[in-house]
This record gives sequence, C-alpha cells and structure tokens, in this order.
Amino acid sequence: MMKMLVLGAGGQVGRALLREAPMRGLDVVGLDRAALDIADSEALETAVGAVRPDVVVNCASWNAVDLAEDKPDTAFLVNGSAPGHLAMLLHRSGIRLVHYSTDYVFDGASGRPYTEVDLPAPISVYGRSKLAGEQAVLAEHPDAHVLRTSMVYSAEGHNFVTRLFSRIESAGELRFICDTLCTPTLAADLAAATIELVCRELPPGLYHAAGSDAVNPFDWARLALASVGRDEVHVLPVKASEFPSRAPRPKCSALLNTRLEAAGVRIPGVNERLRHSAGSWKLAGVFGDAER
Ligand SMILES: NC(=O)c1ccc[n+]([C@@H]2O[C@H](COP(=O)([O-])OP(=O)(O)OC[C@H]3O[C@@H](n4cnc5c(N)ncnc54)[C@H](OP(=O)(O)O)[C@@H]3O)[C@@H](O)[C@H]2O)c1
Repeated sequence: MMKMLVLGAGGQVGRALLREAPMRGLDVVGLDRAALDIADSEALETAVGAVRPDVVVNCASWNAVDLAEDKPDTAFLVNGSAPGHLAMLLHRSGIRLVHYSTDYVFDGASGRPYTEVDLPAPISVYGRSKLAGEQAVLAEHPDAHVLRTSMVYSAEGHNFVTRLFSRIESAGELRFICDTLCTPTLAADLAAATIELVCRELPPGLYHAAGSDAVNPFDWARLALASVGRDEVHVLPVKASEFPSRAPRPKCSALLNTRLEAAGVRIPGVNERLRHSAGSWKLAGVFGDAER
C-alpha cells in the first residue's frame, strides 16, 4: 500500500487529502503546523525518517497575501526556501514529492486564462515567494510534481465561501468585485486530482490544477448564495479599483489545466460544484439554517 505523508495537514487541502486518500486505498499520515514546522530542516528530516513515506504532499504554505508585503522574509522562508530544502531531502531519499503553488505567479495582464507554458510575472511578495518555491522544488527534485491552483474553497477553513456565509447576517453591504477572473477550486476536488496524479504516476513537472470555470467574484458570490437558497441576499458589484488591498492582485488569475486534462484528469468547475453542494455546507455547520 502506498504511504502518503501530508505536510501542512491542518489547512483546507491537507484536511481534504486526509479524508480522500484512505477512500482511494492509500495509507496516509498528516502533520499539521504544530507537529512540524516545514522551515525547521532538522525536524523535517526526523519526521520523514520516522514516517518513511513513498510520497510527500506539501500543503504547508504561508498564504497571508497582504501581510507578506510587510514580512517578505517569512514568506520567502516558508514558501520559497523550505520547499526547496524539502525537495532536496526527498530526492536524496528517493521519495516522491507533490508541492502546491498559486495562480498569483501571473500578473493577470493578458486578461485570459493561463496555461503551464505562459511566463510567470508575479506582482506581489506572496506571488514571488511561491514562484521561488516552485522553482526550487523543480531544481532540487526533477521528479517532483508542482500543482498551481487557484481560490481554494471548502466547507471549512478560511475561504471566499465561508467568509461570505459568515457575513450574510451582518449589517454591512456585501460588495464583490466584478471585473476580475479566477478559477475557484474545491479542496476535495484538488485532493482527488492530486491522488490520481500520484497513483497513475503522471510525468513529473509543472501542472495547473484548478476548477474548470473562470468566474468573477461577484458571480461566484451569487452562485454560492443560490446554493444555500439565499438568492434574495443583496450583493453589489464593484470594480477592483474600488477595493484597494495592501498586495496587488492579478486582474485575471484563471488557470487552464492543459496538462491534467490531456491526461484525462478533470477538476469540476464552480457552477457544477455549488449547484450540488448545499447539503455539504449544511452538514459542515457552515450555514446551519440554510433552508429558512
Ligand atoms: N487557499 C487558496 O485560495 C489557494 C490559492 C492558490 C494556491 N494555494 C496553494 O494551495 C496550497 C494549500 O493551500 P490551502 O488552501 O490548504 O491553505 P491553508 O488552508 O492556508 O493551509 C496552509 C497550511 O499551512 C500551514 N503552515 C503555514 N506555515 C507553516 C509552516 N511553517 N510549517 C508547517 N505548516 C505551515 C498553515 O498553518 P496555520 O493555519 O497554523 O498557519 C495551514 O494549516 C498552498 O500551497 C497554497 O499556496 C491556495
């Protein structure tokens, strides 16, 4: 039985992998940040030696996009050099590696979805730190898989959908950007695609792994509200220029999964997912009284 070690196992994708992997016949061990700081190279070596996995999936990442502008050292340590060290260690030990990166490696200027052959040009510290990480991983471990994903959501954790649901009853106006594009990705779908890629031993290298629908946040919010029967909640479309943030965001960060789709791996889009997920939001207690 293949043994998978998940690092950063307390996050959205980590938790989804811990759920999905046993259902697909894998033996899985998860270490969250409290159990292992991936920037601690000695602890990393000890943990890998103790678990002796066939494959490591690195979900650990410092995703504080705005804060990263003021703390570039932390961003580059966790997102850049630690994955590089992890890759070196695993390559030396003959252990496979899957590492995640981000749509924010692109500047968004093209206005159309990006494929794996498009040149990255990050416009934020977070984007630059994640690009440094993917480059370090591929340099240190030529057999590794790097999966760039986009706008991950699930019924738990901090994400666009859970934040929206938590704000429904607040007095303030709900405003969402209508002139940017992204490809929302359900954590469970990303976990399933990752496991398929690992089990089928797809060729190593860089892959885009995002949901297959490109949408703007305003439409995404309306879709999410409809998924829990709250279409009547008023949301206001605004331009990105009216929503200034500390870190610049690409206007278009939608990804096309060209390589995964060529291999027959499809990640469902947000239209398909939100139409069928009202029950799971409810089960997770995210929106308990959805049927009012
Ligand atoms: N979420 C998105 O929208 C999105 C978009 C594009 C790409 N991605 C990429 O997808 C991957 C998985 O993201 P996710 O959505 O699962 O993010 P997440 O929910 O924020 O999970 C990341 C996990 O990494 C942990 N972590 C942070 N620093 C660490 C360290 N030094 N050592 C060990 N663990 C550490 C975090 O712990 P704490 O919570 O305790 O800090 C958190 O549990 C990441 O590589 C991310 O960059 C995510």
